[in-house]
Amino acid sequence: MRNLHAAVPCLDNLQRPLHDLRISVTDRCNLRCTYCMPCEVFGRGFVFLRHAELLSFEEIIRVARQCVALGVRKIRLSGGEPLLRHGIERLVEMLAELRTNDGKPVDLAMTSNGTLLAKKARALKDAGLTRLNISLDALDEAIFRRMSGDRVPPGAVLEGIAAAQEAGLTPVKVNAVVKRGVNESEILPLVRHFRNTGVIMRFIEYMDVGNTNGWRLDDVVTAREILARIDHEHPLVPIEPDAPNEVAERWAFQDGSGEIGVIASVSHAFCHTCSRLRLSTDGKLYTCLFATEGVDLRALLRTRSVPSSDETTLRQRIAATWHYRTDRYSQQRHEMTEALPGRIEMSYIGG
Ligand code: GTP
Ligand code: 5AD
Ligand code: SF4
Ligand code: SF4
Repeated sequence: MRNLHAAVPCLDNLQRPLHDLRISVTDRCNLRCTYCMPCEVFGRGFVFLRHAELLSFEEIIRVARQCVALGVRKIRLSGGEPLLRHGIERLVEMLAELRTNDGKPVDLAMTSNGTLLAKKARALKDAGLTRLNISLDALDEAIFRRMSGDRVPPGAVLEGIAAAQEAGLTPVKVNAVVKRGVNESEILPLVRHFRNTGVIMRFIEYMDVGNTNGWRLDDVVTAREILARIDHEHPLVPIEPDAPNEVAERWAFQDGSGEIGVIASVSHAFCHTCSRLRLSTDGKLYTCLFATEGVDLRALLRTRSVPSSDETTLRQRIAATWHYRTDRYSQQRHEMTEALPGRIEMSYIGG
């Protein structure tokens, strides 16, 4: 087995290095975004994972430690809504202690819906979280409520964004999924609202994740179209990506009032640089957001044998999963005419 001590990068079958780990800490959410957890599917009768099925913090750390040893430098916590996981600050604290092979702390970020942040931002920062991405699809109350399941007003998210900024969890990025005819009218209001605030507003093409959101290509507003609308009012200039594997294309306002991003996963797939491994709430490794099957680590984590050999086996299992990886779903999407059955849900795999 190659790369047990990660002197060389852990490469997949298409020569992409393992660089990021996205950890879903809960499959639950207090919102019901129509494109992610529609109420009709995730209603009262929906059965979420039981506590015993979730990886414990100790189990998550064991996986994360081996991933970091294999080259991971960036860890993102997601869900569902990660702040619903009891004691999440403790997990952040434990992850913040990990060191990369060259002795640096990992870049430790979170993607949240922001509604519970006002209470938690400071504690998360103190625990070692570095950055936050927060979802907000509209400022208009009616549109926001329609898209997020009518549970809270957009003000609750704005308070969370302010708290994240005050706590220094910066740069705060705000994610808006754009759906044709639903919130495309909110693109410019969002841009106007966040210009000059230091917040990076990002617009995401609506993706065909999971089985439940009834995705149609007609619902997608492309990144080009979004950029054209913004550029018309606030001229933009391109900026270099922060990292080669970044999902967002970055653009700055010509007048110096900040930057925005677009995530064009439908119209301009970025699979060729995709370096993200995903750990689901119940301990499966997924090598693609659109994967249908994961590699179960929980059973391995819970077998009782000699602990040190367990960690070697765990690392080998993770390395092998990455080595055999061939995923490039977004690039193949165009060739596929029909939705694949049995895809996993975004709230379960964690975006
Ligand atoms: P940073 O660049 O580190 O700030 O975070 P990020 O943009 O990778 O994470 P975030 O959770 O904010 O995700 C933004 C959007 O990009 C979401 O819609 C994700 O589902 C999408 N996204 C993130 N990673 C991937 C990926 O590997 N493939 C695809 N198709 N979409 C992704
Ligand atoms: N298409 C695009 N983005 C999505 N997200 C959730 N579901 C989808 C989808 N179908 C976004 C959320 C959040 C991030 C983790 O993923 O808005 O910002
Ligand atoms: Fe919850 Fe985020 Fe999914 Fe909306 S997109 S339902 S906030 S996990
Ligand atoms: Fe990576 Fe899969 Fe997204 Fe392509 S579709 S960028 S392989 S997660």
